[in-house]
Amino acid sequence: MKGVILSGMQPTGQLHLGNYEGALKNWVELQDQYETYLCIVDWHSLTSDYADTDGIKDRVFQMACDYLAAGLDPDKCSIFIQSEVKEHAELHLLFSMITPLSWLERVPSYKEKASELGLDSYGFLGYPLLQAADILVYRANAVPVGKDQLPHIELTREVARRFNNFYGDVFPEPEGLLTQFPAVAGTDGRKMSKSYGNDIRLADSAEITEAKIKKMFTDPQKLRKGDPGRPEICPVFSLHQIYNDAADQIAAPCRSGQLGCVECKTVLAGRLNAALSELRKRRKNFVARPEVVWKSLKAGAESARNKAAETMSMVRKAMKIDW
Ligand code: TRP
Repeated sequence: MKGVILSGMQPTGQLHLGNYEGALKNWVELQDQYETYLCIVDWHSLTSDYADTDGIKDRVFQMACDYLAAGLDPDKCSIFIQSEVKEHAELHLLFSMITPLSWLERVPSYKEKASELGLDSYGFLGYPLLQAADILVYRANAVPVGKDQLPHIELTREVARRFNNFYGDVFPEPEGLLTQFPAVAGTDGRKMSKSYGNDIRLADSAEITEAKIKKMFTDPQKLRKGDPGRPEICPVFSLHQIYNDAADQIAAPCRSGQLGCVECKTVLAGRLNAALSELRKRRKNFVARPEVVWKSLKAGAESARNKAAETMSMVRKAMKIDW
C-alpha cells in the first residue's frame, strides 16, 4: 500500500522560484509515489492576518494556479483548501484537550514570533496543534517540508503518541521528509522571499524576469567589465548554477574579467525564461479559466474529506464519543 503524505502552505499568493525549487518540484515527484494531500491552509493564515481578509481569495487562486502549472495533477493528488475540510477543526479541538500548554509554549516559532510580531491570540498559540491535526487527520506517514518545520513535526509525533497511549493506536508517527535543494538567492543576494521584495515569480512575464535580473546585485568589487569577479559570492551566478547547465562556462570568464555582468545577466535571463516557458504557458491557461481551477480545488476537498471522515470515525470510536 502507498504511504500517505501531506504538506501545507499558507495562501501567500503568487509563488516564487524559492517556493518552486524548495517545495513544488519535489511534490510533483512525490505525487507518483504516495497518496498525496496538499493543503492550502487558510485557517493558519488567520493566526496572523486576521484583520484584513480582502485579498485571501485571490491569494488562494494564484497559488492554486502555480500548483497546477507546476505539474501537480488533480488526478494524482488532492489539492484543497483547509477550511473546506471541517474535520481538521474537530481534530484540532480534540487535540487541544490532551495537549499540555507547555508543549505549545516551548515551540520555537511561537517564542520568536510572539514577541517579534506581537501575536498573542489563542489561535496563534495553537498554530502547531492545528498543523498536527492537518497531518494526522490523513494519518500521514511523512510530511515533505523545509527544516524550519521540524519542531512542528516533532510536536505532531508527540501528540500522536499521547493520543495513542490514552485511546489506542489510531495515528502513525509521521516523519519529516526533507529535500535537498539549492538555496535560491533573491535579487539582492539574501534568501529569496516575498517579504523582502527580492523574488522572481512563476507568474512573472519573460520581460519582467529579465528586468528583475538586470537589477540584481553582483560582486560589489566588480564594477565594470574587465574587473575580475567572484562567482562564489554572486547571486546571479547562484541562479546560473540552478538554471544554466553551462554555469562552468560562466565562472571562468567572470573570474578573469572577460565576461561583464550585463552579458552574464542576459544569458541567465534567457536560460531562466526558457526553463519556465512551458510552465508559464500552462499558468496563463489556468488564469484564463478560473472555473477549472476552482473545480480542481472542490474535487480535492471532496477526496480529502473522505479520508478525513474515516479518520474521525476512528478517533470518535477510540475516544468513546461516537454517538
Ligand atoms: N506551518 C507551515 C509553514 O509555515 C504550513 C503548514 C500548515 C503545514 N499545516 C501544515 C506544513 C501541515 C506541512 C504540514 O510552512
